[in-house]
Amino acid sequence: MRVLGIETSCDETSAAIVEESGDDAARPWRARSNVVASQVDIHRSWGGIVPELSARQHIRDICGVVERAVDDAGPPAAGERPYDLIAVTQGPGLVGSLLVGLSFAKSLAWAHGVPFVPVHHLAGHIESLVLEGGEMPLPAVVLVVSGGHTSLYRVEAPGAYERLGRTRDDAAGEAYDKVAKLLGLGYPGGPVIDRLSADGNDRAVALPKTRLTHPDRNAPELPGRRDFSFSGLKTSVARHVALRRTALGLGAEAPLPPSEIRDLCASFQRVVVGSLLDALFDAAVALGARSVGIAGGVSANSRLRRDAVARGAAVGLPVFVPHLSLSTDNAAMIAAAGLRAFRAGRRGDWGVNADPSLPLGDAGAAFRRPR
Ligand code: KG4
Ligand code: ZN
Repeated sequence: MRVLGIETSCDETSAAIVEESGDDAARPWRARSNVVASQVDIHRSWGGIVPELSARQHIRDICGVVERAVDDAGPPAAGERPYDLIAVTQGPGLVGSLLVGLSFAKSLAWAHGVPFVPVHHLAGHIESLVLEGGEMPLPAVVLVVSGGHTSLYRVEAPGAYERLGRTRDDAAGEAYDKVAKLLGLGYPGGPVIDRLSADGNDRAVALPKTRLTHPDRNAPELPGRRDFSFSGLKTSVARHVALRRTALGLGAEAPLPPSEIRDLCASFQRVVVGSLLDALFDAAVALGARSVGIAGGVSANSRLRRDAVARGAAVGLPVFVPHLSLSTDNAAMIAAAGLRAFRAGRRGDWGVNADPSLPLGDAGAAFRRPR
C-alpha cells in the first residue's frame, strides 16, 4: 500500500509518498519521495512566521508540491494506483495553514475515491523516528522539540502516545529564535546559535536552569513533574545583554562583541540542551524505557545529538534521532503516522475540521477543551 502524506501546519508545504515495506517487520515503511517547499525566506524579513502569509503561500504551492511528490515516487506497480490512502495533518498548527492541507486532502480523496486519515502533527514527529530507524524497542520515551512544541511522550505500544510533560511557556526552538533575535542574529535562530556555540565558552555566562515540580495553575490535573519552561531563560539572556551593553557603553540596539555573543550562545545552548536531556533521561530511567528518541526541528542541534548519544551510551539505551530531512516538518512522517493509524482502524470522515490545538495523549484535554 502507498500513502500520500500532506503537511501544511506551519511554514512548510510538504507532500510525500510512503509505502509499506511488507518484507521487514522491524522497518515497516519506506519513503519513496518527500518534497518540502519552505517559506522561511518569506517570513525571515518579518522576524518570524506571519500566519496569513503562510496560509496564502500554502495555497500557491500545494498543487505543485503534491504533483512533484507523486512524480518523484516513480510509477506504481502494474495495475496499482499512485496512492491508496491520503494522510493529512489535522492539527495542531496555524488554522489557516492547516485548512489548506486538509481541504486539499479531502478534495483529492473525494475525487479519486480513496480513504483519508487525519493525523496529529506530533504523532508524525514521533513516527519519523520509526520511518528512519525502524521500530523502537518499547516502551520508549520520545522528546518532541521544535519551534512550536516541547513535549515528552511515553510510547507504550505502537501508536499509543502518552504525554508525560510539555512546556508551560516557550518551546525550545522558540527560545532559540527569540534569543537570536535579541542578539541580532536573524531568523530562524537555532542553526546560527548552534554554529556560533561551537567556538564559545559554555560556562562563561551563568544562566538558570528551570525545573518545575509543581502542578500547572492553569491545568491542575496535570502532574507537571516533567514540564519544561524556557521563558525565564530567555529573560535572563535579555537581562545579561542589557547589563553588558551598559557596561560597554553601547546603545540599546547595538550588537555585543562577537566573542561575547559566542560565549552567550554556548552558555544558553548548554542550559537548553541540559534541561531537555535531564527530563528525557530521568523519565526514561524512571519508567524503565528500552529506548529514547528526539524528534522535531531542534533535534538538528549538534550538541543535543552529541550529548544524547553520550547519555544513552552511559545508561545503555539506544537513542533514535532522525536525519535532518525528517526532523524538520515534512509529509513523510505524516504519511507514516497515517499508515499506523489506518492499520489500527482509523478513518477520516468528511466532517473532520482543522484543530489548531488538537490534543495527543493529553490527560488535560477534557479540562482545557470543553465541547
Ligand atoms: O520542527 P520545525 O521545523 O518546525 C516547527 O514545527 O516548529 O522546527 C523549527 C525550529 C525553529 O525554532 C529552529 O530555530 C529550530 O527548529 N532549529 C534548531 C536547529 N535547527 C532548527 N534549534 C537548535 N539547533 C538547531 N541546529
Ligand atoms: Zn513540527
